[in-house]
Amino acid sequence: MDKLVIEGGIPLQGEITISGAKNAALPILCASLLAETPLKLSAVAKLKDVGTTITLLEHMGVQASRSEDRVVLDASHIHTQEAPYEMVKTMRASILVLGPLLARFGHARVSLPGGCAIGSRPVDLHIKGLQAMGAEIHIEHGYIEARASKLKGARYFMDMVTVTGTENLMMAACLADGTTVLENAAKEPEVVDLADCLIKMGARIEGAGTDIITIHGVERLHGCDHQVVCDRIEAGTYMVAAAMTGGCVKLNNARADLLDAVIEKLRDAGVTVESDATSITVKSNGKLKAVNIRTAPHPAFPTDMQAQMMALNTIADGVAKVTETIFENRFMHVQEMQRLGAQIEVEGNTAIVRGVPKLEGATVMATDLRASASLVLAALVASGETIIERIYHLDRGYENLEEKLTALGAKVKRTS
Ligand code: UD1
Repeated sequence: MDKLVIEGGIPLQGEITISGAKNAALPILCASLLAETPLKLSAVAKLKDVGTTITLLEHMGVQASRSEDRVVLDASHIHTQEAPYEMVKTMRASILVLGPLLARFGHARVSLPGGCAIGSRPVDLHIKGLQAMGAEIHIEHGYIEARASKLKGARYFMDMVTVTGTENLMMAACLADGTTVLENAAKEPEVVDLADCLIKMGARIEGAGTDIITIHGVERLHGCDHQVVCDRIEAGTYMVAAAMTGGCVKLNNARADLLDAVIEKLRDAGVTVESDATSITVKSNGKLKAVNIRTAPHPAFPTDMQAQMMALNTIADGVAKVTETIFENRFMHVQEMQRLGAQIEVEGNTAIVRGVPKLEGATVMATDLRASASLVLAALVASGETIIERIYHLDRGYENLEEKLTALGAKVKRTS
């Protein structure tokens, strides 16, 4: 299994380009199932999760071709509406095929994703929403078996804000009979990007980016050209890297308007952040103040940046409270950061982080995607060498991580 070896202590300098967002690409790839003609996508990052989704779509009969960051998906001949356990278990977002398959073909059989490292993460709201639209759904042998000769528009209130749940129901509603109103919908930029793509495919959607999304069903959808929105979490991660190392980094293809909560916290920590429409520049002298963080749905502070901001707090001046409200088990980076000398105590869903003057290199283990990113950040400032094991998590969400860090002057190498 691959490891990353990082020698800390180098202020990052230079510029890099941020990739297309993983969390936008995954639902948009699944949206290809709704279209009768090819969907042509660009800015699709070369990531493990993207590859897994394409393999799953190919298993169903989608013709996929890929070159560089472009992917063309032709779902005109689907021969199975089943997403098998072997494929779903490796990636929870596979549940995103459920809505499109059911809406277009009247049937879907999708393995239940099951638990995952960062909490139990049920899919009950996806199921209840589809039932509200008239689907008959049974759970059999670990599979969601869904049928509906034609979904019907409905008003559905989600009692928790769910990103993929909103996306699944929005996609399903595009081909339903009549109007669907999704209340308490997720407002994440990736939901908006999916809606933008669906609208180009012929869907009639209003209100994406607000908590009420209205979808007027249409008879059919067609392919279109769509460029996936930039990855705000990848950008946020490099922003924290620049801040922690006391560097100066310009991120191209990055949008500050998608990162308000993160930028505000970085400024509170004493970091300079400047931006224009397509880039963000971060400057830091490495002297950071502790900042409290509380995760919540967009536009509040994203849970996918919690571990990275905790890394920043480990070397900041003062004591920070980091509260996680989205997932119940998302502090697995704490133990590993402690191995690097961080002082962190966990009380329920809050971590109390007491900044220390210096972290020290050690061997640590990556446990999930964003936890792994936070360990890379810690390693970039730790004295000596840090070895990060099990970095396959990073390959799920960060395109060309070593290349990008190396371009900024970091000493990073991958070994087996
Ligand atoms: C998505 C993102 C993930 C991010 C998360 C929260 C993708 C592919 N992944 O995950 O990176 O960390 O949003 O911003 O976009 N819940 C239920 N029932 C449901 C659905 C969700 O109880 O049917 C709960 C979950 O357990 C969790 C909360 O709702 O506590 C939010 O989860 P959700 O927004 O659905 O996360 P994902 O869409 O899986």
